[in-house]
Amino acid sequence: MARVLVTGGAGYIGSHTMVELLAAGHEVVCLDNFCNSSPEAVERVQAITGRPVRLFTGDVRDRSLLDALFRAAPVDSVIHYAALKAVGESVARPLAYYENNLAGTLTLLQAMDAAQVRRIVFSSSATVYGAPQRLPIAEDAPLAPFNPYGHSKAMVEQVLRDWCAAAVAAGRPAAAVALRYFNPVGAHPSGRIGEDPAGTPSNLFPFITQVAVGRRAELAVFGNDWPTEDGTGVRDYLHVVDLARGHVRALDWLVAHGGFVAINLGTGRGISVLQMVQAFERATGVRVPYRVVARRPGDIAACWADPALAQRLLGWQATHTLEQMCDSGWRWQQANPDGYRSQAARPGR
Ligand code: NAD
Ligand code: UD1
Repeated sequence: MARVLVTGGAGYIGSHTMVELLAAGHEVVCLDNFCNSSPEAVERVQAITGRPVRLFTGDVRDRSLLDALFRAAPVDSVIHYAALKAVGESVARPLAYYENNLAGTLTLLQAMDAAQVRRIVFSSSATVYGAPQRLPIAEDAPLAPFNPYGHSKAMVEQVLRDWCAAAVAAGRPAAAVALRYFNPVGAHPSGRIGEDPAGTPSNLFPFITQVAVGRRAELAVFGNDWPTEDGTGVRDYLHVVDLARGHVRALDWLVAHGGFVAINLGTGRGISVLQMVQAFERATGVRVPYRVVARRPGDIAACWADPALAQRLLGWQATHTLEQMCDSGWRWQQANPDGYRSQAARPGR
């Protein structure tokens, strides 16, 4: 049993990971400033699992809060999700992204050093590879991010590599796993927690579910002239519950190993935009009207993972089907048409 601090635990991936951690018997402490999430998510994680989460409301950049947290709620490992994640916004507000994602991680690592906690799982992203030179993408592919968000993830990976090397050289074992996620979608099968984007979703899957539920008229498909099978963009979509379980496996790796490793989490299978629309329609019986528009600036044609290292080091592989991704995402969207705000407005709950 581990005692785990989950930063950004109220967010989309963090909330699903807290469920899997609690289900595996671990104790969970959550730190979140709710800049992109709701405390309701933490309530629901506790309702789903019937187990408590110790919640600290605050910012990962707040060193004195972190010191107090490590004193009040001793943990042996950290899963670090707290970050800003909108690619377009990162181009407009680079300093906010470097401050939150990079400086926030530096503060966290300094506080971890002081508390002698030297195990961390970090949320990296397939975005660190930029436009891939070869598919599927393995971990030794060159890193070539092309926006501040992607740079912030690659920079943190380098910080973690150096932090581990220094600690190990000084005889203080440290271990860090950077998990490079491909495209997480779907929701917990209960439909009680899920992705709750603020404003207009920039990612494909939540846009599809919002069209299906009637919040938006149609999906804009960003180009059908890509060099792919049907001309639309291809990505490696993986179920968020599989992703969450990958973090639990990474925690086990941390306990048994030292040093830094970066690992892809993906299915190894590419799905086009139109294939995703069709899969969603098949799984839910709901039509998703769409219109093809111009390509989105900064997009790439295709991207999918070589997931072999995750299988070899963590014994992890994705098990959920595309149908389960669509079905669970739809269940969450239907039950919560306005995300966590839907429930808050409902009396008597
Ligand atoms: P999310 O926005 O739902 O979750 C992030 C959480 O961190 C939110 O609850 C937010 O309130 C919190 N947070 C942000 N800054 C904070 C700060 N300074 N202090 C305390 N809390 C803070 O995002 P998500 O989709 O769950 O992503 C989690 C992590 O995974 C992020 O690091 C993201 O960059 C990374 N990631 C996400 C995806 C994806 O497609 N969702 C893909 C690759 C990587
Ligand atoms: C985006 C981010 C990436 C991040 C990833 C997971 C950009 C440029 N990249 O990547 O950094 O790691 O999300 O969060 O934002 N599409 C449409 N219509 C839409 C939305 C998307 O056709 O309304 C298409 C896209 O062109 C793409 C595919 O759907 O071909 C998937 O898009 P998206 O969900 O945004 O994921 P990524 O492009 O992989």
